[in-house]
Amino acid sequence: MIAIALLLFSFTNAFACKISGYESGTCSYRYLPTTYKNSTVKERQARKLALAQWKNGTKGGPCEDGEGEHCMSFCGKYIANYYPPCVPNVESIEADRNFPDGRWKSFNVKTKDRWIEQETIRIIEERIAIETNKTARKLGIDEFGNKGKTKRRFHKNRACQEAYRKYMCWINFPRCDEDEESLPMCQSVCLNFFRTCGYEEDLWMCDDLIDNQVSSEPHERDPSYDFVGAPFKKNEYGRRKKPLEVCTPSIKGSASNFQISKLVTSLGFALSIILIIA
Ligand SMILES: *[C@@H]1O[C@H](CO)[C@@H](O)[C@H](O)[C@H]1NC(C)=O
Ligand SMILES: *[C@@H]1O[C@H](CO)[C@@H](O)[C@H](O)[C@H]1NC(C)=O
Ligand SMILES: *[C@@H]1O[C@H](CO)[C@@H](O)[C@H](O)[C@H]1NC(C)=O
Repeated sequence: MIAIALLLFSFTNAFACKISGYESGTCSYRYLPTTYKNSTVKERQARKLALAQWKNGTKGGPCEDGEGEHCMSFCGKYIANYYPPCVPNVESIEADRNFPDGRWKSFNVKTKDRWIEQETIRIIEERIAIETNKTARKLGIDEFGNKGKTKRRFHKNRACQEAYRKYMCWINFPRCDEDEESLPMCQSVCLNFFRTCGYEEDLWMCDDLIDNQVSSEPHERDPSYDFVGAPFKKNEYGRRKKPLEVCTPSIKGSASNFQISKLVTSLGFALSIILIIA
């Protein structure tokens, strides 16, 4: 966690977009189909076009059969024609005292996408191994060694796994707004993850809102208690419940109607599954 804090402070310029809140990137429009925001084109068709482009490149670009450095074959499907994402700058960041070799040199869209894919798969598999631990079950203990059973959240729960994949992709390729700045994670994405994965409501950690922080400064924040993606932005809607572009991803159908009641303070459970990404 110390490394994260250092990174957070080393990128305080407000220009351009940022990935996971700290890694400077660049807004990419190259894979949005020409039908982007054209309301006469059916959603399904636009989506299909976009998917092919994320997978297969476009306009003679270097993404070919998923192998070019601009291919986003894992996360592309969650971004589709929905928004222009913030992607890594291929240029390296200059070396400094903390990073004598510089940073992110090799992180192009493809390597980042692959990394997210591998991490996501690994973490899901790890969670399933913990949830289906026969030894622990026989001993009658849960993952923390307490009496009981480890709750199965990811095991045989495709919706939970999918919610987690989306979380990972959206946090790592956030939405760019019209000023080419990245937008914070929508609260609905966080709520959706906790709900879909069957976390009890008092364990949800989606209450840390940007909007709250403005009004309650100075706000003592212990970064080790933050859920990755926090502080979140509350979703906003226009006419006919159309999501306004205020957060990542701001797409129709990604919202959750659930209310959150309590501010969560306990961290006594394995949230490392997501914290690890920071
Ligand atoms: C929107 O799409 C339609 C049908 O493909 C096309 O005729 C029209 O020119 C497009 N409008 C814009 C503003 O691109
Ligand atoms: C990707 O491109 C290759 C060769 O251009 C083509 O054969 C393949 O069908 C394309 N795949 C998709 C998903 O568009
Ligand atoms: C399974 O549970 C046992 C007993 O609590 C523990 O020693 C072991 O590390 C666990 N394995 C996994 C994969 O979590």
